[in-house]
Parts: sequence; C-alpha cells; structure tokens
Amino acid sequence: MKIAVLYGGVSGEREVSLSSGKGIIAALEKNGHEVIGIDFNPNQLQDIIQLDVDLVFIGLHGKYGEDGRIQGLLDMLGIPYVGSGVLASALAMDKAKAKQIFNMNHIPQAKSEVYRLSKSNQVEQIGNEIKTAFTPPFVIKPNKEGSTLGLTIVTDTSQIEEALTNAQASDDAILVEEFIAGRELTVAVMGAGGNEFALPIIEIIPKNAFYDYESKYAPGGSEHIVPAIIDEATAEQIKTYAVLAHQSLGCETYSRVDFILNKENVPMILEVNTLPGMTPTSLFPDAAKSIGIEYHEMIEKFVELTMH
Ligand code: DAL
Ligand code: MG
Repeated sequence: MKIAVLYGGVSGEREVSLSSGKGIIAALEKNGHEVIGIDFNPNQLQDIIQLDVDLVFIGLHGKYGEDGRIQGLLDMLGIPYVGSGVLASALAMDKAKAKQIFNMNHIPQAKSEVYRLSKSNQVEQIGNEIKTAFTPPFVIKPNKEGSTLGLTIVTDTSQIEEALTNAQASDDAILVEEFIAGRELTVAVMGAGGNEFALPIIEIIPKNAFYDYESKYAPGGSEHIVPAIIDEATAEQIKTYAVLAHQSLGCETYSRVDFILNKENVPMILEVNTLPGMTPTSLFPDAAKSIGIEYHEMIEKFVELTMH
C-alpha cells in the first residue's frame, strides 16, 4: 500500500512525534509498503491530496495531530487514516470532557475542577480559588496537553501561581486534580467493531520522583514491568475499565489508557491517549512485545484493523 506517515507537527510534543514517526516509517517500510514521511504542517495538505495515498498513518501527538483536527481534514478529503476519528480524538484530548464521560460510566477517578485563565492577571485570583478548593498535594496541568508538559504536583500552596503560569503556556483551561498516591499503570487497548481488548498491564517505575517528561523519553528513564504484578481480580478490573474508557469515548483501532492504582487497590483512571507514543521508550510497543508482537507487526495490525 501507499501510506503517508504524518509526524513532527507543531505541538509541544513535536520531539516525541519525530521519534514516533521514525519508528512507524521504518516499520511500514519493513512491512513492504511504499511510505512517504511528512513532517506535517497544514501547508502540506495539498501534497497529501496529490500523493493519492491509500492510507494516512498519523504519528503526530498533541494539538492539531491528536485532537481531531487533522482527522476532520482527512475525513473531508475522503482519505482513510489509522486511529480514532474526530469526536473521540477531541474528547480524549479535552481531559475535563473525557472525565465527565468516565464518570457517567462509573470509572473511578480523582476529584478535579477546571479553571479558565483567559488573562494572565487572573493567576492570583484563580490561585486563591484553588487554595480554597484543594489541599496539597494536588496536580495542576493544562486541560489539553500530553507527555506531562506543563504539569506540576503542588505540595505547597506557594507553588500554585508558578504552576498555573506553566500550565497556561499549553492551554488557558487548567485542570486541577487531587493527587493520587499509588502505582502508575497503563493499558494498551486495540481492536475494532466492539471487539476491543486490553493487552497486558504495564507498571511504570520512573527513575525520577514521578513519570515526568525525562522519565518518559530519556533512555533508561523508567522501568516497565509487564505484565504488572497485580492480583488477578484487580488486573481484570483494570482491563475492563481500560476497554470501557476506550469504547465510551468512541476510540478506534488503538489507544493507551493510564491509571494510578491507589493504596486501597482501586484503579483510578487518568486519561486516554488516542495516539500514544511509538518511540523506543514508549509503552504500547512494550505491551505488544510482551505477547510476542514485534513493533513492525503491531503497526501492521493497526493498518489491517483500519482497512477492514
Ligand atoms: N502523549 C504521549 C505521546 C503518550 O501518551 O505516549
Ligand atoms: Mg497523555
């Protein structure tokens, strides 16, 4: 097949996407496809039309790539693409909206609140509102962002204003979330047509205090234990929640669902990633590998699921 891989892009996760794209392109070439890699910005839409590809593989992350916008453009052009469509992508990118849907589906999650910082001089006022509503530790993060960019774990209220300014660099909508202490887990989900299934759960042991940008992407930044050592009943529960989260947002083909398993052994959902990282340190490929699916085979399965 003739496949265009969109990668790079203009979001805060550009560097991550350059790495994901490289992996995806190499895998598709290994699988015998004719591959055109495109470091994407909207000026290249015309190129994509002229290339007359059979399929687009979106290796982008974050804004404009993972949030439904490129998916909408491709829909209008009638070009098939791998992964979730407009609505699921937009919902998953908007953490607060996704949380409402998780809540409707009774998936446990941290208490949270959204604040809008339309002007920078509101930082003090919103900071005071947060101080009254939340007791440290809590998390301040952009409502729409990935890879922990702009995220602060607030352990002292003196950190609030700086945390808000950091988060605002990504998004004016700020999500404040109760901090859940526990084990960091993630579940890769794949499949189509209601037959989605969860791959073995991964436990992440970051070298830093939490699973931040460096722990995510520096080689050796974290250890992945797969399958995670969890009692069977809890593991089944986590997998059920992961598939339910994927399906309730309307995700397609693949996604990765992040959780914290709290001290009471309750899996608290963090978010769904509709275009999870495909870099050498990424989680989804490790989950696939644990059941004998090599990286290039995993990429081919996504292509097959899309074309059926
Ligand atoms: N947002 C990054 C790419 C991930 O979830 O893997
Ligand atoms: Mg994410």
